[in-house]
Amino acid sequence: MAEIVSGIATSHGPLLILPPEDWTIRAEFDRTKEFHDFQGGRYTFDELVAKRGPDSFTERFTLEARQDHFRRCQLQLDALADYMAELKPDILVVIGDDQKEWFFDEVQPAYAIFSGDAILNEGYDPEKHKNSHKSIQLVEMHRHTPVDTYYDCVPELANHMVAEAMEAGFDVTASTTLPQGPDGPRGIGHAFSFIYRRILRDNAIPLVPVLLNTFFAPNQPRAKRCFDLGRAIGEAVKSWPTDARVCIVASGGLSHFVIDEEWDLRMLKAMAEGDVDTLINEPQNIFESGTSETKNWFTAIGALSDTGFKMDLLDYVPCYRSEAGTGNAMGFAIWN
Ligand SMILES: [Fe+2]
Repeated sequence: MAEIVSGIATSHGPLLILPPEDWTIRAEFDRTKEFHDFQGGRYTFDELVAKRGPDSFTERFTLEARQDHFRRCQLQLDALADYMAELKPDILVVIGDDQKEWFFDEVQPAYAIFSGDAILNEGYDPEKHKNSHKSIQLVEMHRHTPVDTYYDCVPELANHMVAEAMEAGFDVTASTTLPQGPDGPRGIGHAFSFIYRRILRDNAIPLVPVLLNTFFAPNQPRAKRCFDLGRAIGEAVKSWPTDARVCIVASGGLSHFVIDEEWDLRMLKAMAEGDVDTLINEPQNIFESGTSETKNWFTAIGALSDTGFKMDLLDYVPCYRSEAGTGNAMGFAIWN
């Protein structure tokens, strides 16, 4: 039988790639954005500054603070990469959100499991990004490989997971071939490519991609369903009649693009203490924008729930970039 040997979770936002000097560029985007989601409400940038206190974050996004936050994040990304290199699992189950990278408006599955042979990380195409802002070019260059790269998947386990999830009451979308775009097969989204490029350092391990629609109303799976789906996935892995060491990976979160430290720390405490009730009872309106990706962690925790593993929070780094408290709170964790 397959065995779950560990789990990891990592944020994957652009501030993990962009040098701290350039974070202010993202702050400019924040200033011009129509609204920001925060604690279930929607605010303009100026309203957010007023709500949170005009001087609340002054010391939190100086260049020195940004450099310190960036350094701490890189330290933990390296630690996760070293950990995976040592752990050498046979298979990853990667839980990530799809932000209209694979699935678009024709069909937006609440949750989908890919059971094809391989996923594609599209090679970086400078032509495609020639009019993009230089910060976007840099982020895209890091997420993509220099040339088209296929990462092997594990159709047998994926199909077993789909069937077992159906038995457990989840009408999972089964995706068996790469979706096609105007230029051929679509590349996998950033939640997945970040793991392969930054955490596996391009040393690919076969994976089962689990894609959640955390972002797009109205069919985002709710927090409880994410946790329960994770449980079903974990049970499926453990009942797969093949000897394989499997690692569960959550990609994304924590609060962004408005940082809410109180919420993050409450969620992380609940995760560390196995306080599932707190996680699954969070109201849906908290899970907007990037903060919604924290549900990928909830799903992983569901998958790990009967392993007896303890969560080791490597670090929590609120990476502020503006006086409104926008940015991305980064979290890095291991379960073993
Ligand atoms: Fe994301």
